[in-house]
Amino acid sequence: MTLILGLESSCDETAAAIVDGDGRVLAHRLAGQEAAHAPFGGVVPEIAARAHVEALGPLVEAAFADAGVTMAGMDAVAATAGPGLIGGVMVALSMAKGLALSAGKPLIAVNHLEGHALSPRLADRTLAFPYLLLLVSGGHCQLLAVEGVGRYRRLATTIDDAAGEAFDKTAKLLGLGFPGGPKVEQAARDGDPIAVPLPRPLVGSTEPHFSFAGLKSAVLRARDSGRHRAEDVAASFQQAVVDCLIDRTRRVLARVPGATALVVAGGVAANGAVRAALETLAGEARLRFVAPPLWLCTDNAAMIAWAGAERLAAGLTDPLDVPARARWPLDPAGEAVRGAGVKA
Ligand code: KG4
Ligand code: ZN
Repeated sequence: MTLILGLESSCDETAAAIVDGDGRVLAHRLAGQEAAHAPFGGVVPEIAARAHVEALGPLVEAAFADAGVTMAGMDAVAATAGPGLIGGVMVALSMAKGLALSAGKPLIAVNHLEGHALSPRLADRTLAFPYLLLLVSGGHCQLLAVEGVGRYRRLATTIDDAAGEAFDKTAKLLGLGFPGGPKVEQAARDGDPIAVPLPRPLVGSTEPHFSFAGLKSAVLRARDSGRHRAEDVAASFQQAVVDCLIDRTRRVLARVPGATALVVAGGVAANGAVRAALETLAGEARLRFVAPPLWLCTDNAAMIAWAGAERLAAGLTDPLDVPARARWPLDPAGEAVRGAGVKA
C-alpha cells in the first residue's frame, strides 16, 4: 500500500499527516497558533513562520510514531508549496525537500487550494470527477469545476475579500475574538438573521463572481449605529454571506456538464448554516452534496498528503528545486477579474 507523508505550514496551522493510497488517515497531527496571533486579531506572518519552524519537526516525529512507520516506509513526501505566507510555506517545503533527498523518495509540491479541492475525495472515496466545488477559506472564495487531478477550471472568484476573511473581520469589528468564523457562528446562534438589514453584494448579477467588502462596511455601520445586539449583527451577517454563496453557486450549476456532485471545502465549509443551505441547493438541483468532516475543512496536512497520493498515482512528482510561491492560482488560465488584484 502506498504511504504518503504530507506537510502543511502555509498559514497559521502547522501540520503533518500520513495517508495511504486508499484514503486511510494513519496519522494526523496539527498545532495551531491561535494564542500567538490573538493579541493582533489576525495572523502575523513573522510570528507564524517562527512558530512553524519550532512546531514542524516534533509533529513529523509524532506522526511517524502514531502510524508506526518511518520515513523509509514512505512512498513520497508531499508539502504545500503555495499559495500562502511565503516565510511559512518555505518551512514545510524545505523540510519535505530534506526528507525526500535524504530518504531518496519523490517530492510532491502541492498547491494548498488543490489540497482543499481534493479533500472531499479523501472524505468520500466514491466521489468521482467532475464535480462543482465551492472553495471557501480565509484566503479564497472560488467556484471551480474539478475535472480531474490537476485539472481545475475556475468559474468564479472574489473581486475583493474572501468569505473567511469577511467572517474574521466581522468578528473583529464585533469584538468576538479570533479566529472569527467559529466565533461569529457561535454568536449567530443567539441572534436574529433578519434583525439587521445588510447588503448582498453582486447577488443577481450576471457575472458569477463574489464580493464581500461592502458587507464588511455595512457591519461596521450597523455596529456604530449602536442600535443592534452583536448577536443580531452576527446572525444577519452570516445569513447575508449564505445568501451570496448560494446565489453565486446557483448561477454556475449548469457550467459543469455531467457533474456528479455539489461539493464544498475550505475553512468556511465548517459553518453549519453554509453547509445546510448548500445541501438544500444541491437537493433542488438533484445533485449529490458532499462536505468533508469539520476537521478536514480547516487547514490540515491530511488533505495535503491525500493530494500528494492523488498526484503520485497520476505520475506527477516534482524536482527538488521546485519553488515556494506566495501566489499560485489553481487555474492559471482563469480570466483576470476586475478588482481581484490581491487574491489568486
Ligand atoms: O481553510 P482555512 O483553515 O485556511 C485558509 O486556507 O484560509 O480557512 C480558515 C478560514 C478563516 O477565515 C476562518 O474564520 C474560517 O475559515 N472558518 C469559519 C468557520 N471555521 C473556520 N468561517 C465560518 N464559520 C466557521 N465555523
Ligand atoms: Zn486552507
